[in-house]
Amino acid sequence: MSEPRIDAERFLGRLDAFARIGATPKGGVNRQALSPEDRRARRLLTELGQARGFGVAQDAIANLFIRRDGKDNSRPSFLIGSHLDSQLTGGRFDGALGTLAAFEVLEALEDASVETPFPVEAVAWTNEEGSHYQPGCMGSMAFASGSIPDQWTTLRGHDGSLFADELQATLEALPEAAMRPLGFPIAAYLELHIEQGPSLECENIPVGIVEGIQGTRWLEVEITGQSAHAGTTALALRRDAMAATVRGLAQLYAEIMPRDERARFTVGRLTLEPGTVNAIPEKVAFTIDLRHPEIGALDSLETLIASTFAEVAAAGRCASTLRRIFDMPPTVFSPPLLERLREAADGLGLASKSMLSGAFHDALFVNCVAPAAMIFVPCRDGLSHNEAEYVEPEQAVAGARMLLASTLKILENR
Ligand code: GLV
Ligand code: MN
Ligand code: MN
Repeated sequence: MSEPRIDAERFLGRLDAFARIGATPKGGVNRQALSPEDRRARRLLTELGQARGFGVAQDAIANLFIRRDGKDNSRPSFLIGSHLDSQLTGGRFDGALGTLAAFEVLEALEDASVETPFPVEAVAWTNEEGSHYQPGCMGSMAFASGSIPDQWTTLRGHDGSLFADELQATLEALPEAAMRPLGFPIAAYLELHIEQGPSLECENIPVGIVEGIQGTRWLEVEITGQSAHAGTTALALRRDAMAATVRGLAQLYAEIMPRDERARFTVGRLTLEPGTVNAIPEKVAFTIDLRHPEIGALDSLETLIASTFAEVAAAGRCASTLRRIFDMPPTVFSPPLLERLREAADGLGLASKSMLSGAFHDALFVNCVAPAAMIFVPCRDGLSHNEAEYVEPEQAVAGARMLLASTLKILENR
């Protein structure tokens, strides 16, 4: 047995190889969950795992596990990983960095013939992004609850594809992967990810020790009025769903984020019906992504949003409905694991800082069933969910070293 070490060249080569799967002309990645591109990425990871003699398994939601056995294989595994799906105009590192660093950790352990006390597994969770099918984090959510909600089977993606069909095709595309029950017991979980925000880069700190994740709610709002002729309908007779929407949104944009710097309010999708140039819109449907580190604040912001749209709709002789489609409460990660992460950073001589994650991650759901924690590395200009997303090679490698050193610290303490 020798000292395990990250092979920087191999790891950076892997990042490049996966970035070619679903590559976009602007240098980013479009690898929608359960799409043919996602299947190619899963196949590549599977083949890399098999080439090293690791076990490959998937569960009913197509979470993919690459397993390196340990001394006592009857004990629960230590899990490390992230996701391989991307946004439509996503970057090369969101998800892939953590998944491939987890695989590199397995290879480093194998190269050095380290016998771990129990198995260590790299996982690629299914549909973290929530861009192909909503909600996001389907894989980790189903893993944590041990079941797939009935309503997911009838979900359709933005391209009209049926979630259930694509899930089945994805599972069938990897016949060599053993089927595993959903939500088997694990010892702990660790995830490396890019920060997706600017603070590490601004402060020139290579490692973020992520103590928790702010809460996220996804809301679907519909404002309904009446379609009528754009040219002949006078103001007094209009029941214009768009006019009511704009009034409501203007109030909320002015109120929510300017008054509370920790709040995040985003309308990322909006559709109008009938959607012609010369008809007053009868229906406006849009999404709201609402985030805050405190659950009480999320509750009051949701109440404010509902009452604002009820008022503007009533004033414009329209109706409003609001539906919560996704709810992730704020998360606090495991203090003992965070301590091991700090020791690992100190041991590597890497400056680190404790922080909260503004983005949600699979670790949020895994934290419900086992101790979990996350490591962040900086990304250029804090930019993510963008094809220009970029991580300096040495920062990506430092992240993989942190993941390896943290894994060894955690295993030492078991
Ligand atoms: C994850 O991609 C998020 O939207 O936070
Ligand atoms: Mn991600
Ligand atoms: Mn993302």
